[in-house]
Amino acid sequence: MLSDRSRPVIEATLPVVADNIEEIATRFYVHLFGEHPELLDGTFNRGNQAEKTQQLALAGSVAVFASSLVKVPEQLPEHLLSRIAHKHASLGITPAQYDVVHDNLFWAIVDVLGDAVTPEVAAAWDEVYWLMAYALINQERGLYSARGVRPETVWREWEVAEKIRETEDVVTFRMRRVDDRLVKTSLPGQYVTVQVPMPDGVRQPRQYSLTRADDGEHRQFSVKRVQGGGKPDGEVSNLLVDGVDVGDRLTMSLPFGDVVLDDSGRPVVFASAGIGVTPMAGMISHLATAGSHLPITFLHADSDEASFALRNQVLEDLRALPGATAHVWYEDGAQSSLPLEVHAGMMNLDDVKLPDDALYYLCGPVPFMRAVRSALIERDVPARDIQYEVFGPDLWQGDLVSEPTPGAESSGPPEA
Ligand SMILES: Cc1cc2nc3c(=O)[nH]c(=O)nc-3n(C[C@H](O)[C@H](O)[C@H](O)COP(=O)(O)OP(=O)(O)OC[C@H]3O[C@@H](n4cnc5c(N)ncnc54)[C@H](O)[C@@H]3O)c2cc1C
Ligand code: HEM
Repeated sequence: MLSDRSRPVIEATLPVVADNIEEIATRFYVHLFGEHPELLDGTFNRGNQAEKTQQLALAGSVAVFASSLVKVPEQLPEHLLSRIAHKHASLGITPAQYDVVHDNLFWAIVDVLGDAVTPEVAAAWDEVYWLMAYALINQERGLYSARGVRPETVWREWEVAEKIRETEDVVTFRMRRVDDRLVKTSLPGQYVTVQVPMPDGVRQPRQYSLTRADDGEHRQFSVKRVQGGGKPDGEVSNLLVDGVDVGDRLTMSLPFGDVVLDDSGRPVVFASAGIGVTPMAGMISHLATAGSHLPITFLHADSDEASFALRNQVLEDLRALPGATAHVWYEDGAQSSLPLEVHAGMMNLDDVKLPDDALYYLCGPVPFMRAVRSALIERDVPARDIQYEVFGPDLWQGDLVSEPTPGAESSGPPEA
C-alpha cells in the first residue's frame, strides 16, 4: 500500500505523468536497449517494439497501477499483474532485471519531465515502481517455484514431430521431447514462448497457445502467417510456416498464461474468431480428454470454412463431448460441409441460446472481443465471468478498467 507521504504526491503528479507516459516508455526502451542490447536477443519482441504496442502496454500498466493505488488502495489490479507475471515467466525474467528496468525507467522519467521531478516526486514514484515490481517479482517467484524451475531453466529444446497444414495460412507444429526429463503439465488455455533464431543471428520470442491436451510426450501449437499488407510481413510466423520442418528443433518455454479453464463445473462458452481458435482448441481438447459432461458452447467466426483452422480437431473433440453445441459464422456465406449450425455474416449472439451461469472465454481480434463482451454484458452476463486472451501486449486492459458503462465504445487498440 502506498505510504501517506507519497499518496498526495502521486495524486498531484499522476495527470502529468499519465500525459507523458507514452513518451517516457518510448525513451525508456531506447535507453534500455542502448545500455543492454542483449535484451533484444531472446527476451524482447522487436515486432512489438516496431509497432509500439509494448511501449503502450508498459505505459498503460504503470498508469493503471498508480491510479488504482490512489483510488482503490485496498485492492491491487490483480488481473493486470497476473497477465504481466505470466508473460514475464514465459520469458524467464529474473528479479535482478527489475533493478535494470528501474534505473532506465527513472532515467526516462527525468529525461522527459526534467525539473518537475523533484526529490519528493522521484521518491513517491520510486515507491510506486517498487510496489508494482515486488507484486510482480512475488507472483513470478510463485510461478517458477510451482514448476520447480528457475528463470534460466524455463527453456527446453523440442523437435518437430509433425507439421500439419491446417489452412492456406496456418500450420500446426506437433513437438516431441528430445530428452528424458518429465514433460510438465500445462493448464488448458496456456501458451508457450517459442524462441526462434532469425537470419540476422538474433533470437526472437513469440507466444503460441497450446492447441492440444498434454500426453506426456508432446506439445502442439498452431501458427498463422502474419501478412504485413503494406507493413513488413511477420518475421517469426513466416519463418515458422515456411522454414521449419519435421526433424528441426525449437526452443520453447514451459507453458504459462492466466486465461485457463476454470474447473468449477459450470457451463462453458467459447467465442473465437480466426486464429483466436487456438486456445479454445486447447481447452476443448482438455475437456474431451477428461471425458467432460459439462454443457459446452463453441462459437466461432471466420471468413469461410477453408480458413477455419483446427476445424477437424475441434469438431472431433466436440463430438466426444455429450454436452457440446457449436455455431459458426462465415463472413463469405454459410456454405459448409461440416455437421454444424452455420450462419452467414459476423458472429451474432442473438442467434444463440446461451446456458445459464456459464463462464465465457473470448479470443480473436480486439474489436471482435469488444463486440462479443459488450453483447454478453447487455445480456446480463457478469463481467467477472468473461475472460479473454489477447495475441499481443494487452492494450485493452486500460479500456476495461475505465469502461464507464456496459458496451461503451472507447478509442480502440489495434487488432490483436
Ligand atoms: C498469449 C499469446 C498467445 C498467442 N497465440 C498465438 C497462436 O496460437 N497462434 C498464432 O498464430 N499466434 C499467436 N500469438 C501471436 C504470436 O505470438 C505472434 O505475435 C505472431 O505470430 C506474429 O509474430 P511475427 O513475428 O510473425 O510478426 P512480427 O514480425 O512480430 O510483426 C507483428 C506486426 O508488426 C508489424 N511490424 C513488424 N515490423 C515492423 C516495422 N518495422 N514497422 C512497422 N510495423 C512492423 C508487422 O507488419 C505485423 O503486423 C499469440 C500471442 C500471445 C501474446
Ligand atoms: C514494474 C516493472 C515492470 C512492469 C510494470 C512491466 C510491465 C509489462 C507489461 C504491461 C507487459 C505486457 C504484458 C502483456 O500484456 O502481454 C510486459 C511484458 C514484458 N516485460 Fe515487463 N514489466 C516490468 C518489468 C520487467 C522487467 C524487469 C523485464 C526484464 C527485462 C521485463 C521484460 C518484459 C518483456 C520481455 C515483456 C514481453 C514484451 C513483448 O512481448 O513485447 N519487464 N511487461
